[in-house]
Amino acid sequence: MSSDKPTTTDAGIPVESDEHSLTVGPDGPIVLHDAYLIEQMAQFNRERVPERQPHAKGGGAFGHFQVTEDVSAYTKADVFQPGRRTEMLARFSTVAGERGSPDTWRDPRGFALKFYTEQGNYDMVGNNTPVFFMRDPMKFQHFIRSQKRRADTNLRDHDMQWDFWTLSPESAHQVTWLMGDRGIPRTWRNMNGYSSHTYMWVNADGERFWVKYHFKTDQGIECLTQDEADRLAGADGDFHTRDLYRAIERGEHPSWTLYMQIMPFGDAAGYRFNPFDLTKVWPHSDYPLVKVGTMTLDENPADYHAQIEQAAFEPNNMVPGIGPSPDRMLLGRVFAYADAHRTRIGANYRQLPVNHPKNAPVHSYSKDGAMRYYNATDPVYAPNSKGGPSADTARFGEPVAWPADGELTRTAASLHAEDDDFGQAGTLVREVMDDAARERLVSNIAGHLLDGVSEPVLQRAFEYWRNVDAGLGERVEAAVRGGR
Ligand code: NDP
Ligand code: HEM
Repeated sequence: MSSDKPTTTDAGIPVESDEHSLTVGPDGPIVLHDAYLIEQMAQFNRERVPERQPHAKGGGAFGHFQVTEDVSAYTKADVFQPGRRTEMLARFSTVAGERGSPDTWRDPRGFALKFYTEQGNYDMVGNNTPVFFMRDPMKFQHFIRSQKRRADTNLRDHDMQWDFWTLSPESAHQVTWLMGDRGIPRTWRNMNGYSSHTYMWVNADGERFWVKYHFKTDQGIECLTQDEADRLAGADGDFHTRDLYRAIERGEHPSWTLYMQIMPFGDAAGYRFNPFDLTKVWPHSDYPLVKVGTMTLDENPADYHAQIEQAAFEPNNMVPGIGPSPDRMLLGRVFAYADAHRTRIGANYRQLPVNHPKNAPVHSYSKDGAMRYYNATDPVYAPNSKGGPSADTARFGEPVAWPADGELTRTAASLHAEDDDFGQAGTLVREVMDDAARERLVSNIAGHLLDGVSEPVLQRAFEYWRNVDAGLGERVEAAVRGGR
């Protein structure tokens, strides 16, 4: 059969057949020198890269960020200058499940953004929740293991999850949020995204600010009830992935408006909450939202593996005008992601098109390694007198910094007046939720606890909820005991 697009090997050589191996006569054995057959089998055996350790199941799309306001008084970052439009990539995900797990399981959702700015790639790797389960990176690995599968049964286990949570009271705010309505968004288009962490912004005069990012959905918040989510988990495990793809395909381009909370640098020490504690929000009444611009997703990936599975988001990718804060979780993450990418994708993951800083030149000294696509030319060392790149310390030499001094210590002691583990969780229950939302909260918690949580973990869970709110604790206990 003739073809205007003849099949070739990966070396571009036309192949003899798409269907038949080379054999010794019609009934004879196949032969080892059928290089095309071997290429098919060997390539197939190498099709997978390891899935992400957390956040394995997800989907994403490309789009742009349009600055609509003037926040140049707070940051000199090019991506946030008035009128600037920047290409970007977003990936949304669940945390605990594997790559094939249902989209509608109760879980925080990842909200990972890569801005291809003219100052290099800027990654804002957030979640759809403003807080997190812990405040020290020492506990992150243990937390994720408590959410994954047991060593013996290979099953996820609510007993293990509540064991960890109730022994980690700083998780209460995030668990309250998770068990509430927003713990299962209706679609990725209907959820907000938050930096959760506090970052630093620096303006052109070198003035510093502490900031938090809030991407508010323009589609409106919508959530699934537990029953709806359970049904969808069976009927369409890819419900959220499908929804985003189909919406963009239909020309319904989802958007989010970015607002910032901005704290003057000097406020941090005397603030009533530790502003760098990831289990806390800054109440809006203390630091109101300041509008920045709009993120719109308008282009589906054409190749999921190349553009989404191999996308490498990393909180260490910060551009001039944006920096970290003393949030120790954030400082831990600044190490963890690039390390994960090196093992999951390979040492030269930044040269893949989706990770490449397509709007900024690369003048780095890193070289060689597996699958290297291009290298810097000589000289390969610095300092040199041969015309190689040299750091522009006049423009970029000032590190994003804050004063730090003290004895080395291991402690969670707080110097801030209103820091505790349960206060803001109680505010969420009493002041943000209405009666119907509280009713669903009790039902969601009780349903979760009734799924295999044993004594004495159960007793600790009732105490945990009484600490969030006395009435809530009583109602959870009554619902669980009644359900037995
Ligand atoms: P505000 O009344 O100013 O804000 C309440 C916030 O809660 C709004 O951002 C709202 O989001 C969000 N919200 C509404 N329903 C739920 C729900 N079921 N689950 C989670 N969040 C919800 O109050 P404060 O700023 O003083 O914060 C009070 C509490 O609200 C906090 O303790 C925290 O638990 C929660 N919260 C606070 C945020 C913050 O950054 N300050 C952000 C998100 C939650 P929306 O405007 O989209 O409706
Ligand atoms: C993914 C580590 C906390 C958001 C990951 C990955 C690792 C990791 C190793 C997989 C990366 C990959 O293979 O591509 C950690 C550590 C944390 C932490 C060590 C704490 C110390 C957080 C927090 C947030 C967050 C607080 C949100 C505010 C995400 C998101 C992804 C992710 C969104 C998926 C990124 C993507 O879509 O590729 N994390 N994480 N993580 N994490 Fe974290």
